[in-house]
Amino acid sequence: MTQIKKRPGIMAAFDMEDAASAIWLAEELNGAKGNFAIKIGRPLEMQTGKEIISKVRDATDLPIIYDGKIADIPYISAKISEIAYDAGADAVIIHAFVGMDVVREVVNLRGGDVITVIEMTHPGSVECLEPMSETLIRNVSAIGVDGVVLPATRPDRVKHLSGLLSCDCGESETYIISPGIHAQGAAPGDAIVNGSDYEVVGRAIYQSDDPKSEAERIYQEVLSRLEKLEGLVESERSGGDRK
Ligand code: XMP
Repeated sequence: MTQIKKRPGIMAAFDMEDAASAIWLAEELNGAKGNFAIKIGRPLEMQTGKEIISKVRDATDLPIIYDGKIADIPYISAKISEIAYDAGADAVIIHAFVGMDVVREVVNLRGGDVITVIEMTHPGSVECLEPMSETLIRNVSAIGVDGVVLPATRPDRVKHLSGLLSCDCGESETYIISPGIHAQGAAPGDAIVNGSDYEVVGRAIYQSDDPKSEAERIYQEVLSRLEKLEGLVESERSGGDRK
């Protein structure tokens, strides 16, 4: 069963390059007030080895996502994913553009959650991923992935593509994670008010003087934006009722 709940939260990107800082922050976030998850990226893994996943696992009860942006042939993609799950990851991030045979192979491992990248935050994504992203999201949704990545830097794309997720039971259970907050220009809440579930925050948390407080502050900022939005929807509704 997934450890990653489909509800508003912050996914802290661990892209620092030493194990001690990663373990310290994992322990700090364990006690933080809010809904948090930890995403372990390639810089940290390359500098410290795959053991960092197990070390972070020992330091926290929060869900751990291995962000290998895996994009290899099915056999190798599954092998990399299996190593990450065995080390303690609850989820892996793989690219969808490499094809549904790759996505299916990793999903069929049943080792943990599978999150697929649909569109990214950088300009090259508009050129290369946008033309095929509608097909990608429909296809990964049909396979039944647990999560998808959509860019917080393009909230209109989050809104549009999240509407294409489908499920037999009505509302999709697939969670959406969105990077791009602060360091890449998006503001906390930009993606979540448009249908995302988790906003990924890297440098703005791990490079701050007080990462735990900063993570809690960003989480609260997201909640305030959601409350404001719900207030607006509510007043729209009551305005409509009066007509
Ligand atoms: P910063 O420091 O910019 O870190 O907050 C962002 C984190 O998110 C990852 N990232 C992405 N991951 N699709 C992804 O799957 C994207 O479009 C994307 N943009 C950034 C990045 O690797 C870092 O960990």
